[in-house]
Amino acid sequence: MAIEREHWKNRTSFILAAIGSAVGLGNVWRFPYVAYQSGGGAFLIPYFIALFTAGIPMLVLEMGLGQRLQKAAPEVFGSIRKGLEWFGWWALCLGGGIVVYYSTVLSWSWVYLWHSIKLSWANQEELFFMQEILQRSSGPGEIGAPIWYMVVGMFLTWLSIYLILRKGVRSVEKVIYVTVPLPMILLTILLIRGLTLPGAMDGIRYYLTPDFSMLRNPSIWLRAYGQIFFSLSLAFGVMIAYGSFLDRKSEITNSAFITGLANCGTSFFAGFAVFSMLGYLAKVQGLPLPEVTTSGTGLAFVTYPTAITMLPALNSVIGIVFFITLLTLGIDSAFSLQEAFTAGIRDKWGGSQEKLTLYFTIIAFFISLIFTTRGGFYWFDIVDKWICDFGLVTVGLGQCIIIGYIYNLRDFKDYLNHVSEIHLGAWWIVAIRYVTPVVLFTILIMNVRAEIIETYGGYPRWASVVGGWGVIVLSVILGYFLWRKPIKNNE
Ligand code: PHE
Repeated sequence: MAIEREHWKNRTSFILAAIGSAVGLGNVWRFPYVAYQSGGGAFLIPYFIALFTAGIPMLVLEMGLGQRLQKAAPEVFGSIRKGLEWFGWWALCLGGGIVVYYSTVLSWSWVYLWHSIKLSWANQEELFFMQEILQRSSGPGEIGAPIWYMVVGMFLTWLSIYLILRKGVRSVEKVIYVTVPLPMILLTILLIRGLTLPGAMDGIRYYLTPDFSMLRNPSIWLRAYGQIFFSLSLAFGVMIAYGSFLDRKSEITNSAFITGLANCGTSFFAGFAVFSMLGYLAKVQGLPLPEVTTSGTGLAFVTYPTAITMLPALNSVIGIVFFITLLTLGIDSAFSLQEAFTAGIRDKWGGSQEKLTLYFTIIAFFISLIFTTRGGFYWFDIVDKWICDFGLVTVGLGQCIIIGYIYNLRDFKDYLNHVSEIHLGAWWIVAIRYVTPVVLFTILIMNVRAEIIETYGGYPRWASVVGGWGVIVLSVILGYFLWRKPIKNNE
């Protein structure tokens, strides 16, 4: 298409947007828990090794491909070999799946933000979340109608995404100057509040006490790599699209290092905010710490609210701060996925950013309504599990193979070194060709094996076939359809 590609105003915008995408809910509700369970302070060793041997090399690769070829994922892969365009579409379709369920968490956050004013959940947090808010049905088979307040939350989420993406890079650039620093400031407020409570130090000690014997367990290493991939927003075409909005001479490697380190630093930091609060909660409830320690939705919508109820003062304020933190953390991750998708569409068929964004938002809004139903929670859980554990891992693996073995990797490395501040050595080649694919392949095999032995989450098999494998197959088909759909002769 002959449309002039938009570009970031400067490098700061690009780096902030990349950090905004990477730093998300995963940093707050997953990292601290994974670290605590996987050796505490000792987990930082595999985590940082994973960051340097796979995370940053893949970030460099994705950002660099986008920048060099000035295209989003489908055309990047399509220009390497024709048929591979399909692979790029597949990645984007999986990303589309993520944004649809990621928005669910944001919709709950809106609902909770409202309830923070009165602390409506007080003293019955679990019941409140599962029964009053989610009105959870007996299983995935019983879906029911969308629940109105979650639909409102969903609407606010998609409206925000639409308004932010409407003018493309131009409007994103304005928003990230707020949505990237703000959650950091809010996390600091939560941390200060947490640290000044009794029991906080016990919590932190729990979080960080190193258990080096854990490092002998290979599954801890795999967890570290798994955590890195999702956290850096890899394998869904996001960093490729963001890289494609850089102009041709832009620096890559140092920006990737900054993004990777900022993301992991935020995770580590968030752990202090979370565990100081958990330490307090354990103390006031007189429970051992492991009993109050959770991750995911349980942490954000049950455990943390419980701690908020028990605070000596300013409960509502801290509640509001917490849910605004979740919203600002999540929104830039969500819109980065959508932008990766629409950038792919625009590359191939042209069209105005505003219209494409509108269409995507409306379609995604309607699809996401499934998650606002009484059975929605189960489907949310299943889709999340499959896209991350099977989709992401397979795309990541494919990406390493395509770039490592089909693309001219050495020439690409020379190109990156030519434009970049930090020079890549042979380690980068080793990371892309050997370390990352071997690790991803192992994770994939282990995940498939685990699923064969026992269905995830105790759901009936049909539910994981429909919501899990079904979604993966659907994304493959949709990817195929987008690949084959001809380019119209416009203009
Ligand atoms: N990195 C985001 C997080 O940690 C999630 C995400 C994954 C965003 C993939 C975009 C793409 O929450």
